[in-house]
Amino acid sequence: MSNKPLTECKGWKDLENHHKKMENVYMRDMFTKNPARAKHFSLKLDGLFLDYSKHIITEETMEKLLCLANDCDIEKKRDEMLSGAHVNTSENQPALHTALRGFVDKDLNIDNENILDFVNKTLKHIEKLSNDIRSNENFTDIVNIGIGGSYLGPHSVCEALKDYAGNQNIHFVSNIDGSHITQTLKSLKPKSTLFIVSSKSFTTLETMANAKIAKDWIGSINENNHFIAITANESAAREFGIKDSYILPMRNWIGGRYSLWSAIGLPIAIYTGFDVFKDLLAGARNMDKHFQETPLDKNMPVIMAMLGIWYRNFWNYNTHAISPYAQNLHKFPAYVQQLDMESNGKNIDKKGHEISYNTSPVVFGETGTNAQHAFFQMLHQGSDIIPVDFIAFINANHTLNTHHTQLLSNALAQSQALMNGSTVKNEMHRKFKGNRPSSTILLNKLDAYNLGMLLALYEHKIFVQGCIWNINSFDQWGVELGKELAKNITNIIENNETIQETDSSTQNLIHHIQAYKNKNS
Ligand code: F6P
Repeated sequence: MSNKPLTECKGWKDLENHHKKMENVYMRDMFTKNPARAKHFSLKLDGLFLDYSKHIITEETMEKLLCLANDCDIEKKRDEMLSGAHVNTSENQPALHTALRGFVDKDLNIDNENILDFVNKTLKHIEKLSNDIRSNENFTDIVNIGIGGSYLGPHSVCEALKDYAGNQNIHFVSNIDGSHITQTLKSLKPKSTLFIVSSKSFTTLETMANAKIAKDWIGSINENNHFIAITANESAAREFGIKDSYILPMRNWIGGRYSLWSAIGLPIAIYTGFDVFKDLLAGARNMDKHFQETPLDKNMPVIMAMLGIWYRNFWNYNTHAISPYAQNLHKFPAYVQQLDMESNGKNIDKKGHEISYNTSPVVFGETGTNAQHAFFQMLHQGSDIIPVDFIAFINANHTLNTHHTQLLSNALAQSQALMNGSTVKNEMHRKFKGNRPSSTILLNKLDAYNLGMLLALYEHKIFVQGCIWNINSFDQWGVELGKELAKNITNIIENNETIQETDSSTQNLIHHIQAYKNKNS
């Protein structure tokens, strides 16, 4: 990449000029002129089909977007990430989630440890533990205690693969809101409950507080090993009282929000079986291979990333919606929300300089058709334009075929309506011009392999965008600050202390809490 700031480079300037030309271009007109457009702007990788023809783009747009990708050395940066370079610059770490699915040079060592050996050894450990737990009839319920990446990935995957579940129930406790663990434990029995304490750091406030409650609840029956830990802080897990063979290791090169492929995925393996977990890894590996080997103009993560750049940076659209037409993907929008917004919600570049362009959009979403009856009105006629990703499955995992056809039809109908708008004559309130962009990701079936491809597609898309914006997608310093401040405020409230070193708004709120508590104690 040239040393010029991003907004000064030729690719960026070209796109700014090109955007002016595209402002009044209608997608439906482009389809009329070129019926081959849909074919041209679609890609397929095994059971995953991406249609990106309903975007305000021409061939020239795509060429220019890919020129920008080249200006930003996307291929070089991709290869650096995949080969274990320290792409997480502020923490001086690689980001090797791809290695967790076996996509790694067999000779790569980090801190004198061979990465592939570590991955394979951990997989064996996951296999053994998941088989043991699944066949242990004493355990009817598994409770994963973890938050952020130690929760959203495994939870959304377990929900997505519900149709492949075994006999045990799975629960996820994440929140420091005591009602979360209280409600969860209400229906369970200590004797038949197994806890997985998932925390890379084994210091996270929410997780440790909930794990302590679980430990007290289990009491002396823990002799039967009711606790598993997944962590990079093995000594803390031992101190907590977990035996060595029940501690699954993580490493610092595994980012929290990229960790479901690691031992953090144990709940998935227990819930659905180790073979299903392996299929998930295989699907992701397939997308890794596609990402590494495919020229940029046919590369799905790159195409999706550059479309996002087009809207975020040149059209100034600040929101991106994700609508999976599959009830079992109801946690997927929340998962992508963390992946995208914790990775790319940054306003400083890799060198710590403030940047002048937009980065991560606000990501939100809900399953279709529920979302249609909630916020889609705004997507169709609102004053903001919000590009949408529709995710749908050709085959159902149930036998209600008409239901499924209706579900699928609704997904297609919504993207059509967003594009074409409505031209009902003489009824002004029913008239809207459409031209609202969307992608459709059609998968053959909701299974572990396809889901693995889908998750890796989003991971790589977000990585590419981070490269364009020249930010570090693998740290989260903003989150760290809040954690520190919360600790101080807890001390003040718990000990009824007077506060000096804080702003008057926070002081006022704390006073209000203390006054109420003192009056009611
Ligand atoms: O939300 C911040 C964060 O650091 C995430 O990145 C991480 O996944 C989560 O907290 C939980 O951290 P840990 O796994 O160390 O408990």
